[in-house]
Amino acid sequence: MVTGDAAWREAARAVLAANDRGGYTVPTARLYPFQWNWDSAFVAMGFATWDCDRALTELERLAQGQWPDGMIPHIVFHRPSETYFPGPDVWGTESRRRAGGPATSGLTQPPVFATALRFVWEAMPDSARRERRERAAGLYRAALAWHRWWIGARDPAETGLVAVLHNWETGSDNSPAWDAALARVPTTTSTPIRRQDTGHVDAAMRPRDVDYQRYIHLVDTYRAAGWDPERQWAVAPFKVADVQTTAILARATEDLAALSSALGDDREAAELRDMGRRLCAGLMRQWRPALGRFVGHDLMVGRDIETATHAGFVPLLALDLDESTCAAATAEMTRWLAEVRLGLPTVPRSSPDFEARRYWRGPVWAVVNWLLILGLHRNGRLDLAERLRAGTLAAIERAGFAEHFDPLTGEGGGGSSFSWTAAAYLVLTELDPRRDHFPR
Ligand code: DGY
Repeated sequence: MVTGDAAWREAARAVLAANDRGGYTVPTARLYPFQWNWDSAFVAMGFATWDCDRALTELERLAQGQWPDGMIPHIVFHRPSETYFPGPDVWGTESRRRAGGPATSGLTQPPVFATALRFVWEAMPDSARRERRERAAGLYRAALAWHRWWIGARDPAETGLVAVLHNWETGSDNSPAWDAALARVPTTTSTPIRRQDTGHVDAAMRPRDVDYQRYIHLVDTYRAAGWDPERQWAVAPFKVADVQTTAILARATEDLAALSSALGDDREAAELRDMGRRLCAGLMRQWRPALGRFVGHDLMVGRDIETATHAGFVPLLALDLDESTCAAATAEMTRWLAEVRLGLPTVPRSSPDFEARRYWRGPVWAVVNWLLILGLHRNGRLDLAERLRAGTLAAIERAGFAEHFDPLTGEGGGGSSFSWTAAAYLVLTELDPRRDHFPR
């Protein structure tokens, strides 16, 4: 069943078409003029609502940037653009990249890729699957290599939680969850900072200059370490075991295991199931009943990060919670929703960190709500899921395909004609809570 307005669905497809640069989709013109990793995974699911070939191509173009060690970078610079900093010249990743491959950044991003691949695969009728099996199997192998990289490079102590070495790797760039950890990162940089983002959108909606100094200090540090995972791990001044990234990886691992019967083999299925179990156990240890949320862990100081952000609920995506845990998490989400006109916000209004318009410090993001909706479906909370779904669609229909939305006014913020917001509209208007597109 398709809900939502036909004209808006057409408009969503038009956004994806306008941001298509020939097989890959930019998040939005000028502000993000290259291919971004998790954006493209969401976008592939959006394309799959009407064009599975194009959806596969989106993932294939992203996988062109994959490094020989399995890492899929957070940006693939297929073509030059002058409207973004830090562009390809800043990263210095040549020695790690595949010879002849496109230029890339040196960081990674939340691994939604395998979840997207499963979505696209299951959206295809049998005949289409037969014809596209080789392409899908190539993407399955790319995802498998990347998941192995995550476990080896980002959880060397086998804790069941994967770590990020840069806040950009979480996709939630300036979330207050990183404030304390970033405050320890020096502001000195060897790369001159030439911000372009604040020329495209209101600076009040973006990270501050001092934040960028720290972001680029981290880039300089890892470039000096040759982007080698072990050396990076050793020199990292920022190392956070993130529950959002781990939950996305755990869900994607389950999705990849489900694909292994069609696209892989039994040994890989067993390996992936084991990987998924360890990630879920790692997540479960981060549940804090008193907070009604999951919390991250700052590995530099050995302390939990209790800052209230949406990330604390993303583990529902991968976990089958018991009744009392699920009730506590959903009660907390409901409290956050009661404080705003539109939700779920990235930071609760009652938090001292809340800023209604600044990027990941309060605004509502359609893809975050999409992940939370899937988590609520998984855990049988269909009413709350429907509230988030209806709220997200209404926000888009009121303010357009904005990058994010003010939770108090519903006003759109950041970039406009945003690809993943359009993809969210297309998928959420088709979402069937009984199937979820991800049967288990
Ligand atoms: C940016 O430049 O704002 C990006 O989010 C980094 O990936």
